[in-house]
Amino acid sequence: MERQEFLKTLGISFAVACAGSCLSACGGKGDTGTPTTPTPNPGGGGTGNTVSISISGKLANIGDQTTMNGVLFFRIATGNTSSSFVATEALCPHQGGNLVWLNNQTKIQCQLHQSEYTTSGAVTQGPQGSSGSTRALKIYATTISGDTITATVV
Ligand code: FES
Repeated sequence: MERQEFLKTLGISFAVACAGSCLSACGGKGDTGTPTTPTPNPGGGGTGNTVSISISGKLANIGDQTTMNGVLFFRIATGNTSSSFVATEALCPHQGGNLVWLNNQTKIQCQLHQSEYTTSGAVTQGPQGSSGSTRALKIYATTISGDTITATVV
């Protein structure tokens, strides 16, 4: 093999080796190189999961509220039927602020940017002093068995 021919061969091998290592460093199929923006945790503990709590322990009186595994439970009426309670997301869809039930104002309010929602989840006020918007809250179906209320997260 002539010297010039040898160097040509070496150059091609080197270029192939470099291209291979560079391509592998750039990521695999589907990697667009564009960072993804994380979305706030919508709460709820995962679709299809159930979340249960004791009624007498946490929701005995009208206005009582508690959160468990991403679900906000609150009592809106006397009696132990499903219509006496609301189960919804514990975190605001806007940026994940904590949601609370304001019984004296009959609304759900975000503690971070004060978005407000009805007991059926409708938005009555969007984020205050912050960009972006929110969406309606998910209202979870509940069942009651004895002293236990169970919400099914969808
Ligand atoms: S996080 Fe709830 S309104 Fe912004």
